[in-house]
Amino acid sequence: MNNIHHFNDLLDDKDILSLADDKAPFLQDWRGNYSGDAEAVLFPRSTAQVSAIMRRANEQGLTIVPQGGNTGLVGGGIPDTSGKAFVLSLSRMNKVRSFSEANRSMVVESGCILQELHKLAEEHDLYFPLNLAAKGSCTIGGNLATNAGGVNVVRYGNTRDLCLGIEVVMADGRVMDLLTPLRKDNTGYDLKQLFIGSEGTLGIITAASMKLFSLPKARATALAGIPNIATGVELLGKLQAASGEQVEAFEIMPDTLLNVIFKQFPEIPRPLDPIPEFMILMEIASSDEKDGREDETGRVPIIETLEGFLAEAFEAEMISDATLARNETQRQQLWDIREHAPESTKRESNPVNTDISVTRADLQTFYDSAVAEVRKVCPVTRVCSYGHLGDGNLHFNLIEKEGGDPDWLDKKEPLKAAIYRALASLNGSISAEHGIGVMKFEQLKQVKDPVALSLMSNIKHLLDPKGILNPGKVID
Ligand code: FAD
Ligand code: LAC
Ligand code: ZN
Repeated sequence: MNNIHHFNDLLDDKDILSLADDKAPFLQDWRGNYSGDAEAVLFPRSTAQVSAIMRRANEQGLTIVPQGGNTGLVGGGIPDTSGKAFVLSLSRMNKVRSFSEANRSMVVESGCILQELHKLAEEHDLYFPLNLAAKGSCTIGGNLATNAGGVNVVRYGNTRDLCLGIEVVMADGRVMDLLTPLRKDNTGYDLKQLFIGSEGTLGIITAASMKLFSLPKARATALAGIPNIATGVELLGKLQAASGEQVEAFEIMPDTLLNVIFKQFPEIPRPLDPIPEFMILMEIASSDEKDGREDETGRVPIIETLEGFLAEAFEAEMISDATLARNETQRQQLWDIREHAPESTKRESNPVNTDISVTRADLQTFYDSAVAEVRKVCPVTRVCSYGHLGDGNLHFNLIEKEGGDPDWLDKKEPLKAAIYRALASLNGSISAEHGIGVMKFEQLKQVKDPVALSLMSNIKHLLDPKGILNPGKVID
């Protein structure tokens, strides 16, 4: 039965898409792993409209799948194939409600694109540090709903740590106003934390109050070859201490990944040749302009700090080779390499993707054990393990051997199981930053503490008793 008429009186015609071609971009995920169908895609423009939609959906028992920029990597924003769901896109709710330089905070609607928030903060000489390669498309609502990580977590924390308050529309349409810009508020349970990372299963985030920081005025960025992951971890501790906790990013990339990036994007310049087995992309930043200013001898303090650090590391044989960005163009070239990692592996193969975390201290043990387990299943697979070393978070990904593997699709599940065998003994996380979605729906039941699972289920039932919000995602 067609249910679209339940929403026709709540939204303008132009804010409802029901033709197949129009709906298509909202029904498939970025990697092409998940596709579904929906009766329509709804584009509310205000919290009042979201509230009216949810009230109606709850009365009629209609499924709502919230979506932001549709860059999620676990299928969380894609409806099932029944065609009965409604995708609720927050993308047209993209107003800035307020901005306070004094409080260093902003209240923005959930459809605001992350990169636009970077620009907005910068116009006020401030900084919003959440940063990921999908920044041109992902929304702050999606970032909150997934508690996104990205490349600056090592200094500023995950999205959760950047959030002061949220406005949420509940499954029954009630609006919960937790949109406080306060930095201290111990008035009972911190309910916003329930919704952050809940992947659209508990409520619709319509606006958020986010923290802002001093805008970095000086940066030093380098790419260095390291012999192994343990050395990378040791280097990070040393750089955090030597720089006065100024490490903004500390990303690891193996030679396998770099070869794939340079193959898929030959226009990207190769900074080091030959490519070492592992490389670290490190960045330190200071908000003090003086740290970036040349003195009379031509020296720039922040560059001196990183250069001196790299020279010592080279002496100690902790790094084999390094290149330091001398200007913004060179810095962008180094970041360009890292930002092309997800797209390159997608183009190269149909990868086994993971998003694991262990303690920084356990990273090398995990890596060695995962490689050993994987080799038992398929000795020739290419291990493309990159990620956020500073957060103990590796995208331990596998791609088929050069030239293709005819049995690759059959090998993917056993290979994935091999990686998780290595993870299990270290009490690591099966999802460091991307979430559970559909991809890890079954797996979560195997690994999560049973008491926690049962509480999660109770909370889901309490907040969404009819199960209309993003069913089949995260938890039953
Ligand atoms: P969507 O994909 O639209 O939705 C994601 C989930 O949130 C879904 O479950 C959806 O139902 C729910 N949701 C969306 N908006 C709302 C809302 N307003 N209220 C309630 N629920 C909502 N992630 C990282 O953590 N770190 C990275 O470094 C990173 N890099 C990436 C690089 C690339 C190239 C790509 C494609 C993705 C990357 N991601 C990364 C994953 C993705 O960008 C993040 O998960 C992002 O936070 C999703 O935002 P979105 O607006 O696209 O959300
Ligand atoms: C990254 C995404 C995949 O770190 O999380 O590139
Ligand atoms: Zn990542």
